Amino acid sequence: MMKIAVIVGNRPQFIKAVVVCRAAQDFFTQNDDLFLIHTGQHYDNFMSNIFFEELDLPKPRYNLGIGSGRITDQIGAMMKPLREVLEAESPDVVLVFGDTNSTLAGALVAAHLGFPLAHVEAGERLYIRDRQPEELNRVATDALATLCLPASRKAVGQLEAEGISSDRIIFTGDTMFDLFLWGKNKVAQLFPETMERYGLAPGKYILATLHRAENTDDPQRLRMLLGILDAADLPVILPIHPRTAKASAAMGWEPRGSLKFVPPCGYFEMMSLLRGAELCFTDSGGLSREAFWSQTRAVVPMSASPWPEISQAGWLERVDPEPTQLTRALVDRQRPANWNPDMFGTGDAGRRIIQALDRFRHPTTVDWRPPLVRGHGLPLTV
Ligand code: UD1
Repeated sequence: MMKIAVIVGNRPQFIKAVVVCRAAQDFFTQNDDLFLIHTGQHYDNFMSNIFFEELDLPKPRYNLGIGSGRITDQIGAMMKPLREVLEAESPDVVLVFGDTNSTLAGALVAAHLGFPLAHVEAGERLYIRDRQPEELNRVATDALATLCLPASRKAVGQLEAEGISSDRIIFTGDTMFDLFLWGKNKVAQLFPETMERYGLAPGKYILATLHRAENTDDPQRLRMLLGILDAADLPVILPIHPRTAKASAAMGWEPRGSLKFVPPCGYFEMMSLLRGAELCFTDSGGLSREAFWSQTRAVVPMSASPWPEISQAGWLERVDPEPTQLTRALVDRQRPANWNPDMFGTGDAGRRIIQALDRFRHPTTVDWRPPLVRGHGLPLTV
């Protein structure tokens, strides 16, 4: 008997949860139970429902309906209903993904209630905290996690460097890589239709996304980034996140040149747009990895690189938010000769996660519960 509570709330987490749910179907026995708790952080159709429908993600057993708000208020609002659900369900382990407010709220509640906590995509760091809410969420969640499940090889070393003992770390590889490989054929089929729908020619456009606080919350910076995309020498298609749409509307900015805003897309359509793009301009950690797997070069306008391993391989260029640098990066069309996605695992992260969680099966012989784990209380790298 094994019960896993999976906490999701944001677009990328639905995508990651699909992979874990599929693996659970393959490995679970009849008495095992895996269920979703949706915090409701993302609630629009195209930010939430679309992923449940197109990826066949099981309907959440609970939707807490929290919605948008200031970061601290949002985390706070999630905690009481999460406590009630977790107390009622008493899972063997709570699973959280990535670095969002839903991740941290889930981690805090699970840890306070004494439920084992497993963190998928643990150990990623920018080592910058200013206007990086995700970094705070990551660091805190890893410190609380009973089990850290890094998606990249680099993250394993980063966790160890922070004093997290190796018996709390299991490298699984990246769930998004599993899904990318699984969806490849469908994406190829959808590709011609996507090009037609958006009026694009393969290899002759740039795919862009922008939604990080550091890029959207300062109007001057957002205006500069959008202006540079609007002046690009190729058409730029930007599926717009609601946060960015609101910020650009608030400053009365509209594209007049190469840039075109379109509504956010589902998973397969986004992968299809990526497949034909000459370049991907993004501040999304997920999309910059997906660009690498699609062998599309990414330009990332952020103050630190989320994926230095992709930069080292030459497929990602982090660029300071400065007009000359950005303009140069947008016209650089060279691609590296080599491509090797090994650092993100072998596309079986879902299976590895479910197997790693098996240690929490009840009754268990190993006591993984905090605060017995070693590595707590050590200084965190800033
Ligand atoms: C969150 C995550 C980010 C992740 C992103 C994926 C945090 C701190 N950040 O950022 O790491 O990459 O999700 O998209 O948790 N909104 C809507 N409809 C929705 C959801 C949001 O209109 O369904 C609008 C609201 O105005 C909201 C704003 O978008 O205030 C931002 O949403 P929020 O959930 O706070 O964070 P994201 O920017 O989406």
